[in-house]
Amino acid sequence: MTEPGPRTAPSRVRTDIAHNARVWNYWLGGGDHYPVDRVVGDRVTGMYPSIGEVARADRAFLGRAVRHLAGDTGIGQFLDIGTGLPTADNTHEVAQHTAPDARVVYVDNDPIVLAHARSLLTSSPEGATGYIEADARDPERILRAAGRTLDLRRPVAVMMLGILNFVLDTEEARSIVRTLMDPLPSGSHLVLTHPTLELGGAGNETAMRFWNENATPPITARSRSEFASFLDGLDVLEPGIVSCSRWRSGPTARTPEVAQFGAVGRKP
Ligand SMILES: C[S@@+](CC[C@H](N)C(=O)[O-])C[C@H]1O[C@@H](n2cnc3c(N)ncnc32)[C@H](O)[C@@H]1O
Repeated sequence: MTEPGPRTAPSRVRTDIAHNARVWNYWLGGGDHYPVDRVVGDRVTGMYPSIGEVARADRAFLGRAVRHLAGDTGIGQFLDIGTGLPTADNTHEVAQHTAPDARVVYVDNDPIVLAHARSLLTSSPEGATGYIEADARDPERILRAAGRTLDLRRPVAVMMLGILNFVLDTEEARSIVRTLMDPLPSGSHLVLTHPTLELGGAGNETAMRFWNENATPPITARSRSEFASFLDGLDVLEPGIVSCSRWRSGPTARTPEVAQFGAVGRKP
């Protein structure tokens, strides 16, 4: 199921300004980007050399969290908001590898992601995948549309990886999370990653300032306590709020931290 927006890609794709979905894909080693994305991506890497590591650590966290939820916890439904361009180990591939009947709905507001959504819709025959073109700032619409593919009376894992950082107002970001989680039943989970200036990453602040002057959408970092507030009312799974590279990644001494918090909370 694809729910397109009012106009269809690729006519809305802007090639004159760097877009986050495409630059993220560039940092991950993908092939879906324009010269403007590579120029900005390289400038950011020059200022903040570990950005590629952050992107890879974030995707590896996604894999571990989804494997845990689909396997150990038996969660069969995923709502992945701020999906990004298709890459290796997309949420439905990881989930359906463990649980072939898993149902996954993707949400993004970038027209380039919509243009590539077909690759996200290759479900196993037992499961289902859907794509909604929507803004994370419209959580009611997201839930309404997701309800066509997911049974919202059963537990859902809401995944917001590297996306709340594009909602610049922290109270608005909290309200989005509450609106998404409130109607979902006990046993639902919230999976989060978010950039921070509190875990090192020299050059991160300068790079974010450069990003905000030269690319879209604008981004913000958040403190541990702001990140923790998104998980209010949820039981945060072990090991708590950590660098996403160190979330259940084995012996932490050998895993370098990245400046990106990761955590998973369970609705009691
Ligand atoms: C940093 S990428 C993260 C992609 C993926 N979640 C991951 O962790 O690899 C952020 C994604 O969020 C999308 N995005 C940014 N702001 C958004 C918004 N307001 N509503 C929906 N999607 C948004 C971007 O288009 C991009 O694809």
